[in-house]
Amino acid sequence: MWFNTPVTESLGIKYPIIQGPFGGGFSAPELVAAVSNAGGLGSFGAHNLTPGEIGTVTREIRTLTDKPFALNLWVSVADADGLGLTAERYAEALDFFRPYYDELGMQAPPPPEGHVEDYIGQIEALIEAKPDVFSFVFGIPSADVLARCRNAGIKTLGAATTVAEARALEDAGVDIVLATGFEAGGHRPSFIKAAERSLVGMLALVPQVRDAVRLPVVAAGGIGDARGVAAAFTLGADAVQLGSAFLACAESNTSDLHRELLFSTAADETVLSRAYTGRLARFMPNEFVEAVDAHPGARLPFPLQAWFTTPLKKAALLADRPELASFYAGQGAPLLKHRRAADVVAALVADLDARFSN
Ligand SMILES: Cc1cc2nc3c(=O)[nH]c(=O)nc-3n(C[C@H](O)[C@H](O)[C@H](O)COP(=O)(O)O)c2cc1C
Repeated sequence: MWFNTPVTESLGIKYPIIQGPFGGGFSAPELVAAVSNAGGLGSFGAHNLTPGEIGTVTREIRTLTDKPFALNLWVSVADADGLGLTAERYAEALDFFRPYYDELGMQAPPPPEGHVEDYIGQIEALIEAKPDVFSFVFGIPSADVLARCRNAGIKTLGAATTVAEARALEDAGVDIVLATGFEAGGHRPSFIKAAERSLVGMLALVPQVRDAVRLPVVAAGGIGDARGVAAAFTLGADAVQLGSAFLACAESNTSDLHRELLFSTAADETVLSRAYTGRLARFMPNEFVEAVDAHPGARLPFPLQAWFTTPLKKAALLADRPELASFYAGQGAPLLKHRRAADVVAALVADLDARFSN
C-alpha cells in the first residue's frame, strides 16, 4: 500500500502525513490529537513554552489521544548578536517603532534584557515528557541529547533546507530528515548558511536529499492537496509534512481572521521577510512588513526584533488593525479546502487511495 513507508514504520503511524508544528502559540493539543487520531502524526510547536508548560501540554495531548505525536523545539534560540542592544541601537529601533506604538495607544517595550528561551530546560522537560517524536529546527541537538532521546525511545526528526544540512543531520545520527522547501509557511530554519542563501524549492530539494542520505525523508513546502503529496512521493519522499493546511483548521490556535485570510485571495501572495522576528519567515505581505524592509535600522537580530514586534502585533489585532499584524502562510495556501483536521487527512487519504490503488 502507498501508505506503508519507512516513516510510518519508524514512527508507528498509519499514514505518512505529518501536521507541521507551529511555534508562537499557534499549536493546540486538539489539533495534534485530531491528526494523530486520524492516523497521521500531530505535532506541537513548543519553542515558546517554559519547561513546566511542556509537561502540561504533553499531559493535555495524552488526554486526547493515545497515538504517537511530536513535540518540536528550536535548537538555536538566539542569533549570535541577538542577546542584547546598546542604548543607541535601542533608541534607533524605537525611532522606527514608536509611531506604530503611538498609533495603537500602547507603551513602548523597555530595553530588552537578553531574554531567550530556556533551551536546556526545554530539552530536559521534553525528554521527561517522552513524546514519540522530537522534531526540531534551526540546528542539530548535541550528541548527548540525541543519545538520550535514542535511549528513551524518542525518534528524532530534523529539518534541512539544503543538502548540506541533510547530510549534517544524518552524520549526527538523527533518525529522519525533513526536507523543507522555500514554499513553506513560517520560518526558514536554515542553520549552515544564511536563510537567504538556502532558498531551495521542494521540487529540487527532495530528490537531492533523497540521493544524499540513507535516512527516511519527509517533504514539506507548498503541499496543499493530494497532488502535492503524490509529487513528493515521486520525488523520493517517504512522508509529507503540511503546515498551512492544518493551521487553517478550526482546531489550530490561530485567530478566525487568520483562518479567513488563508482561505481568501489574500493568501495568493506571500513574502519572505525578517520583519517580525529577525529571522526569515513567509507570511502574507502588508504595510508594516514593507516599511520594516525599507528601513534597515528597524531590523534587529532574533529574538530582539520579536521583542519590539510581538506586543505590537497583539495590540494591532485587538485594535482591528490587521495591516500591522502578521499572518503566516505557505505558497500552497490557495489550494486549501478543508476546515477540520480530520477532513484534511481523510481527503488526502481518499485521493491517494484512488491514485495508487493499481
Ligand atoms: C505559523 C507557523 C508556525 C510554524 N512554526 C514552526 C515551528 O515552531 N517549528 C517547526 O519546526 N516548524 C514550524 N513551522 C513550519 C511548519 O511546521 C511546516 O513545516 C510548514 O508550514 C510546511 O509548509 P506549508 O505551510 O507550505 O505546508 C511553522 C509554520 C507556520 C505556518
